[in-house]
Amino acid sequence: MGKVFSLLNHKGGVGKTTSAINIAAGMAQLSKKVLLIDLDPQASLTISLGVPRQAVTIYEAMRGEAELVPFRAQEGLYIITSRLELSGAESELLNEAGREYILTELLETVRDDYDFVIIDCPPSLGLLTLNALTASDFVYIPMQTEFLALQGLAKIKQVIDKVRFRLNKQLEIGGVIATMYDSRKILNRDIVDMIKKYFGDKVFQTMIRDNVALAEAPSQRQDIFSYNAGSPGAEDYLNLCREILDRLENSPVKTEMPRQQRV
Ligand SMILES: Nc1ncnc2c1ncn2[C@@H]1O[C@H](COP(=O)(O)OP(=O)(O)OP(=O)(O)O)[C@@H](O)[C@H]1O
Ligand SMILES: [Mg+2]
Repeated sequence: MGKVFSLLNHKGGVGKTTSAINIAAGMAQLSKKVLLIDLDPQASLTISLGVPRQAVTIYEAMRGEAELVPFRAQEGLYIITSRLELSGAESELLNEAGREYILTELLETVRDDYDFVIIDCPPSLGLLTLNALTASDFVYIPMQTEFLALQGLAKIKQVIDKVRFRLNKQLEIGGVIATMYDSRKILNRDIVDMIKKYFGDKVFQTMIRDNVALAEAPSQRQDIFSYNAGSPGAEDYLNLCREILDRLENSPVKTEMPRQQRV
C-alpha cells in the first residue's frame, strides 16, 4: 500500500513546501512513483512547479464535486493542485459529518497507484491540516534552525498526539528535518542540538543547508533536480530521501489496522 506523508509545521516559511516538492522529486529520481498534494490555499506548491490551471483541484475534490485528477508533471511525479478558494473549505465543510476523513476517503482509491503520497500542509492547524494528518502514515516536521523555531514545538506534538488518539492511530512521526541550516552559525548548531534534545533520533542526520538554488528553483517553476542537480540543495534532498527510505525499511513491521478507526 502506498505510504502517505504530511509535511507539518504551523509556523510559516519553515520549508514545508520546498521539502514536499524536493522530497517528491528526489523520490522520483530514485525511481519511486509519487503523488504530491497541495493542501495549502496559498497554492505555493502548484505555483512553484508551474502546473497549469486544472479543472479539478483539491478544493472541488474535497467538496465532493469531483474525483481526484492527478496532473503528470514528469516521469514518476504527479500533482493535485490547489487554489485560493480552498481557504473557504474549512468553514464550508464545518457541518459535514466525518469532516476530518474527507482526504482519507479521497486517497483510498488512488494511494495504491503510488509508492508515496506527499501532502503539503498550510501553516495552520485547522481542518485542512487535520485532514492531512488523518490521512497520513507518517508526519515529517521541517524546522528552520532559528531561535523562534523552538516556539510551538509542544503545540505540534500535542496536535499529533490528539490526532493519534482520536482520528488516526497509525500516525507516526517519520522525522524532523532541519532546514535552512548554516553550519557557520553557532546559533544554528545550538538550535539543532535543542531540537535533538526534544525529538531525539527522530531528527534526520541529513540537514538541508541554506542554499540559494532552493530559493531560486520555484522562480523557474522547477524542482531542485531539474533546476540545478549539482547544487547543495539537490544533494541534501537526495540524501534525505535515502534516509527516509532507510528508516521505512528498518522500521518495525506493524500489523495493518483498518484505516478508518473512528473513535
Ligand atoms: N534550504 C533553503 N535554503 C534557502 N532558501 C530556502 C530553503 N528552504 C526554503 N527556502 C525558501 O524559504 C522560503 C520559505 O520556504 P517554503 O515556502 O518552503 O516554506 P513553507 O513552510 O512552505 O511556508 P508556508 O508556511 O508559507 O507554506 C521560500 O522562499 C523558499 O524558497
Ligand atoms: Mg508552504
